Amino acid sequence: MELQTERLLLREYTLGDFAAVHSFASDVRIAEYVDWGPNTAGDTQEFLEMCVAAQGDSVRTAFTFAVTFPNRDPFGSVGLSVDHGRGELGYVLDADHWGRGYATEAAASLLRFGKETLRLRDITATCRPENTASARVLEKIGMVQVGLRRADKLIRGEWRDSLVFSAHRVDHKR
Ligand SMILES: CC(C)(COP(=O)(O)OP(=O)(O)OC[C@H]1O[C@@H](n2cnc3c(N)ncnc32)[C@H](O)[C@@H]1OP(=O)(O)O)[C@@H](O)C(=O)NCCC(=O)NCCS
Repeated sequence: MELQTERLLLREYTLGDFAAVHSFASDVRIAEYVDWGPNTAGDTQEFLEMCVAAQGDSVRTAFTFAVTFPNRDPFGSVGLSVDHGRGELGYVLDADHWGRGYATEAAASLLRFGKETLRLRDITATCRPENTASARVLEKIGMVQVGLRRADKLIRGEWRDSLVFSAHRVDHKR
């Protein structure tokens, strides 16, 4: 499976992506507001093995794609995990590529896939209130802040708050 955007190709991971993924996943800058990373080599290997295994699931619940320029190595990850008709969106990009709209482009594409192809009735995403760039990405792709959860995310030993964003499908049957 793959998704094409204006500038990006979101494609399935392979185990051969290890070096490219580990280069951004082991960078402390990506981990300031998230519980993912900075990765050890073992963490990155495990992450890729999980992504590859999910591709073969008969009922797929994890859609984690490499963010790439066509025919180039991954420089980020975007993922949608699905549970009972609801999705949870997340993303991370190599810090050297921040600020150029790539996260917005990738997240918008996966959100559209979740709504239009998977027909999910709700897609949520959370971010730390201090993670202004991430909150901005979620706003720019049309998600709406629906809540603030106090001390709900344990990040390296510290309980942190989360903003909750939602993209609710309005046409679902009740
Ligand atoms: C969050 C992240 C994916 C954003 O990636 P990105 O490619 O830089 O995002 P975009 O360029 O698409 O958009 C970022 C937006 O935030 C804004 N922004 C960035 N840093 C900001 C800051 N410190 N204060 C205010 N706005 C900020 C940008 O100006 C842009 O908004 P604009 O288009 O209105 O100008 C990236 O910072 C990242 O990988 N962080 C580490 C992992 C992470 O935190 N993931 C999110 C988990 S909730």
